[in-house]
Amino acid sequence: MYEKIQETVNYILKQHHSNAKIGIVLGSGLGNLANHISVEKVISYKDIPNFPVSTVKGHKGMLIFGKLGGKEIIAMQGRLHFYEGYTMNEVSLPIRVLKSLGIETVILSNAAGGMNPNFKIGDIMLINDHISLFPQNPLLGKNDERLGARFPDMSEVYSKKIISIAKVVALKSEISVKEGVYVGTTGPTFETPAEYRYFRIIGGDAVGMSTVPEAIVAHHAGMKCFAVSIITDLGIAGQVIKVSHQEVLEAAMAAEPKLTTIITGIIELL
Ligand code: HPA
Repeated sequence: MYEKIQETVNYILKQHHSNAKIGIVLGSGLGNLANHISVEKVISYKDIPNFPVSTVKGHKGMLIFGKLGGKEIIAMQGRLHFYEGYTMNEVSLPIRVLKSLGIETVILSNAAGGMNPNFKIGDIMLINDHISLFPQNPLLGKNDERLGARFPDMSEVYSKKIISIAKVVALKSEISVKEGVYVGTTGPTFETPAEYRYFRIIGGDAVGMSTVPEAIVAHHAGMKCFAVSIITDLGIAGQVIKVSHQEVLEAAMAAEPKLTTIITGIIELL
């Protein structure tokens, strides 16, 4: 694993050198945030050794180096999911690569179904905690101390400081934001009404098919983590209707300008 990461990092460093300390992962339908980056270099995932290639519509597969909110950043336009058949290690490898490239703060975004009855489609939820329902943890296996500790504390995976910065930015920009717990599942099925009900009962506010493996690995690696969901459909008792990937993408794209404002504002203040 360590050697693989180094091989990937060495390839990237040969293509471009960046002093970025902030990494951004753009989720389903949220890739257009990249249009606001003043781009210095783009590398396609398919050219990067050991980088899995996203097979999902709405995920472009570009590693973008540039500036956003006045700071150097590295953005992943498109992510990898466990449901695509990649292992938890493969899904989270890019986060370890970002760490090795000097990234200290990771900003994760995703599209999610809202279970909290106060949520509506298009809402932005700042993730303050998660429940992992993935069948595996990305840290399973022999621990390499160079990557992080064997038994990582998980009491604050999502930086409280960055959440409060996000709230300040949202208030200033007159964007209302929600806050809550993200339930991570494998997908690729959306939930049955009973599953949405169950996820609500166990303490979830939103559910999605990503983010948790990356957040665990980022936290393990000692990076600060901030994550945000766009609520693209509702899993609220009595309000569950048919949902398609296309609708999820469209709802995410419609809310993306709000997300761009918040993420850009956070970066300015970090
Ligand atoms: N469930 C799981 N993943 C999702 C959903 C959902 O309702 N919406 C967007 N991603």
